[in-house]
Amino acid sequence: MDNKIAALKDKIKEAGLGGGPARIESQHQKGKLTARERLHFLLDEGSFEEIGMLVTHRSTDFGMEAEKYPGDGVVTGYGNINGRLVYVFSQDFTVFGGSLSETHAEKICKIMELALQNGAPLIGLNDSGGARIQEGVVSLGGYADIFYRNVQASGVIPQLSAIMGPCAGGAVYSPAITDFILMVEHTSYMFVTGPSVVKTVTHEEVSSEELGGAYTHATKSGVTHFACANELEAINHLKRLLSYMPQNCEEVPSPLAYSQNQDEGRPLLNQIIPENANQPYDVRSVIEQLADQDSFLEVHKDFAENIVIGFSRLAGRSIGIIANQPAYLAGVLDNNASVKAARFVRFCDCFNIPLLVLEDVPGFLPGTDQEWNAIITNGAKLLYAFSEATVPRITVIIRKAYGGAYDVMNSKHIGADMNYAWPTAEIAVMGARGAAEIIFKKEISSAADPQQKLLEKEQMYAGIFANPYRAAERGFVDEVIEPAVTRIKLIKAFKMLENKVVNNPRKKHGNIPL
Ligand code: HXC
Repeated sequence: MDNKIAALKDKIKEAGLGGGPARIESQHQKGKLTARERLHFLLDEGSFEEIGMLVTHRSTDFGMEAEKYPGDGVVTGYGNINGRLVYVFSQDFTVFGGSLSETHAEKICKIMELALQNGAPLIGLNDSGGARIQEGVVSLGGYADIFYRNVQASGVIPQLSAIMGPCAGGAVYSPAITDFILMVEHTSYMFVTGPSVVKTVTHEEVSSEELGGAYTHATKSGVTHFACANELEAINHLKRLLSYMPQNCEEVPSPLAYSQNQDEGRPLLNQIIPENANQPYDVRSVIEQLADQDSFLEVHKDFAENIVIGFSRLAGRSIGIIANQPAYLAGVLDNNASVKAARFVRFCDCFNIPLLVLEDVPGFLPGTDQEWNAIITNGAKLLYAFSEATVPRITVIIRKAYGGAYDVMNSKHIGADMNYAWPTAEIAVMGARGAAEIIFKKEISSAADPQQKLLEKEQMYAGIFANPYRAAERGFVDEVIEPAVTRIKLIKAFKMLENKVVNNPRKKHGNIPL
């Protein structure tokens, strides 16, 4: 018996070493942690239970039968994050560069199925050279098996991907289907085809970092939601991100402790909007006043900065915030902002996270670039996402709510539950000057002093529409409120909406304008 136990211990020890000490050293030299070290930092101490530690590949081509490593390049199992069950896989670059073999894929699929059946989040730590080249089509099949399960799990359990090394070729599509991607600066990259293929096909010279590094995807493509300075920052970000989410679509996020009867007045909000309606301000300063202290976790911070999105807490409860950002492009809605916000709205709706919209939007961005890149379709995505969302939804119109953007930004008409406006709100088809130029065109051009006439007409139009009261008279706005009381109003309203039940018409699935 002792011999057998000793043999088992030897096997466990061997598996723990992955591709061996030299390759572990090489991994460290690159500034990267190993697959197991990452799990050590991610999961509560002593909570990790490994599944499939002794799995090896079945490949016999290219002399592969002589080179086997227990675990086959991926560590899989389950554990806890702050006491909550999660399923994890962590690719081991020290074994065949973390490449995906048939058995490597089977291990990941097993974890995915357990996560789905047991209703707990799935976290993937990706560090892989892609398909196991020695295995050919078997490896490609393994990828597709994973993609299929990603899709089955979408909207049922949260799926988070951290990219901590290479992630290239078709391998990118599993993270892309998951709900959130985090990348590590300088040590991770994602692309469908790498620099050498790019050079051959398009003659562009580009480095891996420039083509698909964390900064590129956080700012240019929006593929990643977070760019983290190092692996530990990424791991801590993963944990924080998860804290806003429930285990699955049947649950609500766990609230944090919150004591009633605090002073919820926020007098600073009465001063936050500049006197001049065209002057910018940072909407994050509004969020800071409204949300629980230090609770805002911004998503996609450096992409489509004209809209700010992120998770926050209000009286201890998770909410998703979507806010136009007047400090960037005047907060206009464009292609990227529409898609960014739409996907976030849909995530929150999947997982019972109520939505708060802070609106200050001059409209959709005009121009050929926007039209040719389908602002019609992309704007419709946001409209669709809000319209189908059944979670509690509240809008606060802070300042501008112009044109189609008024409708799109969670208006009463598309199903918002409560719509507040500050006295600074301007709810109209367009800005007063543009409106005056169109409807009083003849009168202005024939006036002795056209500029003076334009000003007169602009002021007249503004007097009628540059306020929240026309909308309030119609009930499109439920209440015009002093900014200072917004937080308490929101706390009460979200509490009132806690048991909201809305069922969209029965259907197979909708057809969002993709
Ligand atoms: C098998 C692989 C491998 C792979 C790396 N290795 N990638 N083994 N299949 N795909 C092995 C190497 O042989 C090496 O083994 C070890 O991993 C580390 O690799 P290095 O090249 O030494 O590391 P590094 O210099 O850091 O370069 C990492 C790398 C490079 C950029 C990822 O290895 C690389 O370009 N690999 C090939 C990438 C690729 O073309 N993959 C297929 C993409 S197509 P030893 O024994 O020396 O430690 C694809 C299709 C998927 O993935 C489609 C799904 C639908």
